[in-house]
Amino acid sequence: MDTITPQPRAAWVAGKAEQGASTLEVHHPLDGSEVATVAVPGPEQVERAVAAAAGVAKEFRRSPAHLRAGALEHVSRGLAARAEEIAEVITAENGKPLKWAEAEVNRAVSVFRIAAEEARRFSGEVQRLDADPSGDARLALTRRVPRGPVLGIAPFNFPLNLVAHKVAPSLAVGAPIIVKPAPRTPLSALVLGELLAETDLPEGAFSVLPLGNEETRALVADPRLPVVSFTGSGPVGWSIADAAPRKHVVLELGGNAAAVVLRDWPDPEGAAHRIATFGNYQAGQSCIAVQRVIVDSAIADEFVPALVEAVEAQHTGDPYDRNTDVGPVVDEAAAKRIIAWVEEAVAGGARVLTGGTREGTSVAPTVLADVPADAKAWAEEIFGPVLAVSVVDGVDEALAAVNDSAYGLQAGVFTSDVQLAFHASAELEVGGVIIGDVPSYRADQMPYGGVKGSGVGREGVLAAMHDLTEEHVTVFTGVEL
Ligand code: SIN
Repeated sequence: MDTITPQPRAAWVAGKAEQGASTLEVHHPLDGSEVATVAVPGPEQVERAVAAAAGVAKEFRRSPAHLRAGALEHVSRGLAARAEEIAEVITAENGKPLKWAEAEVNRAVSVFRIAAEEARRFSGEVQRLDADPSGDARLALTRRVPRGPVLGIAPFNFPLNLVAHKVAPSLAVGAPIIVKPAPRTPLSALVLGELLAETDLPEGAFSVLPLGNEETRALVADPRLPVVSFTGSGPVGWSIADAAPRKHVVLELGGNAAAVVLRDWPDPEGAAHRIATFGNYQAGQSCIAVQRVIVDSAIADEFVPALVEAVEAQHTGDPYDRNTDVGPVVDEAAAKRIIAWVEEAVAGGARVLTGGTREGTSVAPTVLADVPADAKAWAEEIFGPVLAVSVVDGVDEALAAVNDSAYGLQAGVFTSDVQLAFHASAELEVGGVIIGDVPSYRADQMPYGGVKGSGVGREGVLAAMHDLTEEHVTVFTGVEL
């Protein structure tokens, strides 16, 4: 598709398309070619967006559920109708293979549809207060009320769906939102702006501002935006939490997700295929891409060669080619860092079982063994197509190895033993455990988020709707119960 337009792509300021005070260029990660130019709003436009969000907050929170649900349904249908075009936009700006871009659009279709459904259901509860005599003839009505306008800061790795996970729940509860997409990948968020602008949402309910990180600091500090929902790197996320201690801050940060393959799993080769696929999907640029592979010694001789074979079968290349499984990483700096981390592991005694090289922004799918526990390729989030395999003896060692991490987002455990599954679920220090599959599984309606260095708060449509609202209680007295 032709992504270059005669004018820079407009930002969405309080729901209106506007050219900016400056521009930024978006480049294709594979070859650096220019993909589009985007309007960057100036301070006066940013102020208008914030003032409009704050100004409409009361009206919007009281808007009928059917209005919000109708708008969300419209966006869901619009994304579905334009799925092919939007997938190409995602591939152009992010470099992920088309098949993964298409999967992302489908997920965003669901996120908006689910949000519409939840918006219609989202309600409060009635609580009787006569548990003690002081509450005789009293009844409480609790309702969830938006905390206020939301600043949503999104990353480059899912430029549409992680924006959807901020926008859809906010609009579902009636909270205005200002979205700041990642500077490398603002295009799909701007398309989302087009669809939102076709709805009956009140002016100010949404803005999409492709700002630089510097300008975003002022928004983080702005008291008119009491909620900040951030997805991205740990250092940036925690610096936001430190800079805004009085705000409600949701942080979806990174991880070094582990897949555990236990000796009872009947199909080690099948597990190897899933791990090879989900260590390399989006070139490993997902917070729940498999990074650490922890395998029981009893099956390691069968599993490790199968894993290497499955990784070598991944097709690398042009993300527009439908046969491509693994495209480029986001830019050359990222590719260089990934290789530097591989080299650091090797200098510490790790063995490269396959890969370990790069050509420009394309990093070869890589499997490492014997990676020292303090090497970055094991201990930090590599965010690249690199798997680090560790062989352990039995369940306890395996679960301890997963927990021996500064992060805790999701883990996958290949076991068919129900007792072991419950044990793993209870033991693992993560936000989610996937039994019988990789940690990279995410259904968009399920609660999603981490513990430890992986963040605070939960996304997933309904979980986010809870997170963006607080309970408001009305007590009725003299009531016949
Ligand atoms: C992430 O990278 O945190 C998001 C993963 C997903 O939505 O699948």
